[in-house]
Amino acid sequence: MQSVSEVVISEVQGGALTVADLEALADTLMQSVALGASIGFVLPFGFVQAQAFWQKLLPAFELGERRLLVARLDGIIIGTVQLVVDQPANGAHRGDIVKLMVHPDGRRRGIARQLMAWAEALARVEGKTLLVLDTVTGSPAQTLYEDLGFVLSGTIPHYAMSTTGILESTSVMYKVLV
Ligand SMILES: CC(C)(COP(=O)(O)OP(=O)(O)OC[C@H]1O[C@@H](n2cnc3c(N)ncnc32)[C@H](O)[C@@H]1OP(=O)(O)O)[C@@H](O)C(=O)NCCC(=O)NCCS
Repeated sequence: MQSVSEVVISEVQGGALTVADLEALADTLMQSVALGASIGFVLPFGFVQAQAFWQKLLPAFELGERRLLVARLDGIIIGTVQLVVDQPANGAHRGDIVKLMVHPDGRRRGIARQLMAWAEALARVEGKTLLVLDTVTGSPAQTLYEDLGFVLSGTIPHYAMSTTGILESTSVMYKVLV
């Protein structure tokens, strides 16, 4: 009988990423951007730039300012999300959800949904009572966030440039954790 691979979600404590982890994260980011994900970059966007993005975040992971969650399939990272816990003193109850992405090979299998459930659980453990995020208006991610109980606060037109250079609207969303 053939065994079915299971996706395993975990937190990468203190940014303890292996070389293979960093490569998988960079590949997930690069492939996502190549397919048009609006997550901070425009085309052309290559593997070296993707690696540099993750390298730059390592100190924040090490300090615990950002908490990194990953989804692994057969040990290889196939998806990720971050919870930004380090906030100003008057916003210590808040957490930002950023850089949710799943490798194109792993999509529509509930991985993002699982990552978000873990991020929310982690936020609760950290005493957060409000989650905030933004995403491209009308994107698949917005559908997911709405499904998970995030509320649309409003939209900002012309907020960010798409990978191909078109200014797109962003949807600002929040979820009260009670
Ligand atoms: C958005 C993204 C993270 C979803 O990852 P995923 O693992 O495929 O999502 P899931 O399988 O957990 O899907 C959860 C729900 O999201 C919605 N969804 C996901 N992909 C969708 C798509 N292509 N079209 C419409 N809805 C979609 C659906 O409601 C889905 O539920 P369903 O499968 O029961 O219908 C993934 O497409 C991605 O990495 N995109 C590029 C990066 C990005 O845009 N990130 C968002 C940053 S704010």
